[in-house]
Amino acid sequence: MSDFPAASLLAQAAGLIVDAEHVCVFSGAGMSAESGIPTFRDALTGLWANHRPEDLATPEGWHRDPDLVWGWYRDRAANLRTIEPNAGHRAVADLSRAKSLTGGRVSIVTQNVDDLHERAGSTVDAHLHGRILGPRCEFCAYRGDPDLSLATTRPRCPDCTGSLRPDVVWFGEMLPEREWITATDAIESCSALLIIGTSGVVHPAAGLPMLAAEMGTPIIEVNPEPSALTPLATVHLEATAATVLPAII
Ligand code: OAD
Repeated sequence: MSDFPAASLLAQAAGLIVDAEHVCVFSGAGMSAESGIPTFRDALTGLWANHRPEDLATPEGWHRDPDLVWGWYRDRAANLRTIEPNAGHRAVADLSRAKSLTGGRVSIVTQNVDDLHERAGSTVDAHLHGRILGPRCEFCAYRGDPDLSLATTRPRCPDCTGSLRPDVVWFGEMLPEREWITATDAIESCSALLIIGTSGVVHPAAGLPMLAAEMGTPIIEVNPEPSALTPLATVHLEATAATVLPAII
């Protein structure tokens, strides 16, 4: 991991954020890493390190063994209840409050399925990949209470013959339309884009920052490593979310 970014880079990033009337935050798994949630692609600690994604995060995996899939997500939901937002989540929430005092705003588009932005005090505009807490029916429009995600036995749908499933987007599934439209609007209308902790390799979400780049919107990236989105960044802060966000916000 690199040393803390130079003061001149921190000042440049802070200046872009201060000057922007509307800051859009685009976050990925690295945002929650310092809360103790493994990212997806880190070779040793990543979420897929001990599992095959096709068994746990595809419609085929669900049809093959729904109890296995339910149990894996149930354990992730239970783990979520044991961890807390980190200083990075809290800094983003502080920024939202500060912007609203001066007539500006912060919108949050996240690929994360956790609720740590919300628990830090932010409102999330778009959960592009769904939410781990709050299951939905595999067939009909029924949505269950968040606590049902902690059920040890896979719950049946009270409205139809289906079973409840995690409300997350699996490989091969469409992103939720309303969240996608909201995310696109936020990224196209923002005056600065703050990308935090994403490898930028999973599309279509990873294509969103390009919309801002094409409009000439300044882009600040927070990631201890270079990512597929680094070439789009006006400023790349090579540091972790929980260390650098409180410093620039
Ligand atoms: P990845 O695991 O692909 O990437 C995590 C990124 O966070 C990497 O670029 C790391 O360098 C960076 N990172 C690690 N620790 C960090 C820290 N403390 N602070 C800041 N950055 C840090 O996760 P995502 O890009 O979010 O999709 O993955 C995108 C999607 O792939 C996920 O939403 C998920 C997965 O398949 C679905 O589940 C549909």
